[in-house]
Amino acid sequence: MGRKLTKSAGRVDLVAKKDKEDEEIEEEELMLIKKALETGTGAGVGAPEKPEGKAEGAGDGGGGGAPERPAEERKEKLTELEAYTFDANGIPVSIKIGRKSSDYVPQYIISIPMLAEGTKLILNAIKGDLITQVKLDITELIDPTKSREVRAKFERKANELLERQFHGLTPEKKQVLISYLIQNTLGMGDLEVLMSDENLEDIAINNPSESVWIYHKKHGWCRTNLYIRRDETVYEYAAMVGRKVGRQINVLNPIMNAYLPSGDRINATLTPISSFGNTISIRKFSRNPWTIPYLIEVKTVTPEVAALIWICIQNEVSLLSSGGAGSGKTSFLNAMSCMIPPNQRIISIEDTRELTLPDFLHWVPMTTREPNPEGKGAVEMIDLLVNSLRQRPDRIIVGEVRRQREAEVLFEAMHTGHSVYATIHADNAEECITRLTTPPISLPRSVLPALGGIIVQYRNRRSGVRRTFEFAEVTKNGTANIIYRWDPKTDEVKEVGQLSRLGELLSLYTGMTVKEMREDLADKIKVLKWMVGKKYFDINTVGRITADYYLNPDDVLEAAKKNKGW
Ligand SMILES: Nc1ncnc2c1ncn2[C@@H]1O[C@H](COP(=O)(O)OP(=O)(O)OP(=O)(O)O)[C@@H](O)[C@H]1O
Ligand SMILES: [Mg+2]
Repeated sequence: MGRKLTKSAGRVDLVAKKDKEDEEIEEEELMLIKKALETGTGAGVGAPEKPEGKAEGAGDGGGGGAPERPAEERKEKLTELEAYTFDANGIPVSIKIGRKSSDYVPQYIISIPMLAEGTKLILNAIKGDLITQVKLDITELIDPTKSREVRAKFERKANELLERQFHGLTPEKKQVLISYLIQNTLGMGDLEVLMSDENLEDIAINNPSESVWIYHKKHGWCRTNLYIRRDETVYEYAAMVGRKVGRQINVLNPIMNAYLPSGDRINATLTPISSFGNTISIRKFSRNPWTIPYLIEVKTVTPEVAALIWICIQNEVSLLSSGGAGSGKTSFLNAMSCMIPPNQRIISIEDTRELTLPDFLHWVPMTTREPNPEGKGAVEMIDLLVNSLRQRPDRIIVGEVRRQREAEVLFEAMHTGHSVYATIHADNAEECITRLTTPPISLPRSVLPALGGIIVQYRNRRSGVRRTFEFAEVTKNGTANIIYRWDPKTDEVKEVGQLSRLGELLSLYTGMTVKEMREDLADKIKVLKWMVGKKYFDINTVGRITADYYLNPDDVLEAAKKNKGW
């Protein structure tokens, strides 16, 4: 076999589509591998990629840009931190996470046992035929409602082409090959594998000479053995994603924010704006959006704090979800929004769609739009906010408040009787108030009491621990009165203050005495703990139980007390 082929087959890295090396594989080489595959010699379909252990070297290279390390260091063994498998749209994937003592970050090593390097080469050759032979018009490609039909067309053709190339494939193996072809023609190639790993929070491509990075829930930032070797490929992925949601990325618009069909958020930038190359940063959202019972289960919030938030949501008290970058503000906002009563109209406003609410709620999601290349047609957050007031909302949810005008309209909306939920970037409740009242937002302190409470999320970068750090009410003077605060030493949430203004506000809205309010909170705690015990974590289930509770609280409470199913 030729030199290039040997080099390629000797590595486990999953080289991106149209990789230059792949393109250069000569016809003759392809025939050789094909023969080997058919006769069962060499690295056949289904044969393990390479003997165990060798894969560890895969992350070594660190890409073309990485400095050479001494040989002893490179040979050093990887200490395994974790290994697991999952299914990536029909492709079984094995992951090994390990670390060498000389490494600054762990390595995340992907292998696809059923897809040997040689097989991939053949598939990359078939890919071209697949694209040219499936007849599609552009509308089919960008219309999300047609994605199923398009996929079916590709599957049929892929099946045909594979039949011709490989004889005697088992149905399982054929399905894996079809899935790989689809992922490389309709999707973002090998990045799709990462998209299927539920343990990842972020995926980042920095430049062609560096491996793709991932942020793992347990291990933080890790290097992977996946490389996207060409800047053009990164651009193609970004442009493809943008087309589907009407966003553009090109020389004139080198920055793009969009979302994927899966709902995950994506940001792309082109060089020379990003100095080292085109970049893509993907924020993955949990496939099952977070709900309050699930956040209790994973100890992010206590039932006591959750019950207090619930009573606020039920009684139309406006709340802000605050925290540092990536602390879980949006996830928390989503979780609490599931508890909005179904007889209320919700308008949500976001730059990119992140929220998912129970499917029976009266909900109109709106997203902003960037201007076209002539600078026309932009729809900004403020436009949507002002517009939302004419859509007769009961509740307004805002993805993130950043600018003065947005904050002004938001507080205006609160003053005119709407309840508002939004995220804001601030590490604690005090800082949140400071952010609202100082430049660039500069709201007068006198408007702040329209806000009922501030919930602060915290994520420890080292341990990955996530906790609701504070729950504060906003006083009549526009300051923060912390009611609950998490103590990192004991990992406990302590009641550090007394409800004052929020208590008054709630009793004004509900007519409850302080004693009745305590009883109501105790009932809600009971219901929440019951939902946790029964593992009612899914958004529709949680949404329905909450909605049923608003209609017939006694029935739900009875079920909770007797620990019955719902
Ligand atoms: N309680 C939690 N436990 C574990 N993972 C969580 C939790 N809350 C959020 N996450 C995950 O953390 C990541 C960041 O969450 P999210 O986007 O909600 O944060 P954010 O504070 O809104 O970030 P940004 O500052 O980028 O807007 C997501 O992948 C999300 O699924
Ligand atoms: Mg967010």
